[in-house]
Amino acid sequence: MTEADFVYDRYDHVRPIRWTGEALELLDQRVLPFTLVHEACRSSEEVADAIRALVVRGAPAIGIAAAWGVVLAGRGLETNDSAEALRRLEPAIQRLHAARPTAVNLAWALARMRGVLARSGADWCEALEREARAIETEDLAANRAMGRAGAALIEPGSGVLTHCNTGSLATAGFGTALGVIRAGVAEQRIGRVFATETRPWNQGARLTAWELSQDGIDATLIVDSAAAHLMKTGQVQWIVVGADRICANGDTANKIGTYQLAIAARHHGVKFMVVAPSSTVDMATAAGDAIEIEQRDPAELLAFRGKRVVAEGVRAWNPVFDVTPHALIDAIVTEKGVVLQPGADKMRALFAAQ
Ligand code: MRU
Repeated sequence: MTEADFVYDRYDHVRPIRWTGEALELLDQRVLPFTLVHEACRSSEEVADAIRALVVRGAPAIGIAAAWGVVLAGRGLETNDSAEALRRLEPAIQRLHAARPTAVNLAWALARMRGVLARSGADWCEALEREARAIETEDLAANRAMGRAGAALIEPGSGVLTHCNTGSLATAGFGTALGVIRAGVAEQRIGRVFATETRPWNQGARLTAWELSQDGIDATLIVDSAAAHLMKTGQVQWIVVGADRICANGDTANKIGTYQLAIAARHHGVKFMVVAPSSTVDMATAAGDAIEIEQRDPAELLAFRGKRVVAEGVRAWNPVFDVTPHALIDAIVTEKGVVLQPGADKMRALFAAQ
């Protein structure tokens, strides 16, 4: 452990995913911040349902949960033949894959689990468990590395604005964009943190604000529509966000509203940073217009706490991700390195092997 890790530990207490050896326990993000309850998943179907229902959410966290889902699916199988296991697990893997479409980490983690089955022998069950553990451990290490690299780009005394929840709750721990903010606060570079509410599911208001308060990091909440005004008043120098999928040219899918933040940031001379592990980089997708954007239930807009608040008959459109063109991004920070002013050539130079 480095000295920086000790300092970072002080700001890193929340963990959303617990493997007990029998079940996957997920901190239920639907009921935070006032109810802290874990939902125990004992089958891959339960894990797929939990991902779909947003019990667990955030690109890296759903990849990790899906990997443990494959471990659970393997528990019922009685065979020493890993090729047969792979065949029989495929429907469960497909169900996990279909749980959410936009974050590439889900497909990436499942591809790793398939790869282990293809390579292992009679010990495939233990090998699956080792791989799920490795995916989780590597994610935490990547977040710490990105935290350091991203914070180094921020001038001391800066204000930052983040969107959605990209923290410990969305990862194995520490977070991506929120990891940069944790590191920046620990290193006394970041003077002030702002978080958007992130309508309609309020990841910022319910999750980011709670998570930061757990770690003693002071944050100020704004309504999503106050972001351009915040930039205009000179209170933030960086927008720091996560990603659900980064294409081969650097175009980035992230929580709905990210794109308009990037446009406003460019207009006001505020820098725009995307922070994500290399598992979020999808070199097989050339550009952002090929990304499937998840649509969720319009009821998220039409109702509040289960009660309809919009006149009957009114319809809503609820895409939950958007794509920020690479030209609006100043830095993509990954554990493999930082890409400044990203484009296809620079992305290829760092991620050609993916
Ligand atoms: O719908 P969600 O809450 O899963 O969306 C999450 C985001 O868009 C995050 O910004 C992204 O997954 C990065 S999380 C480290």
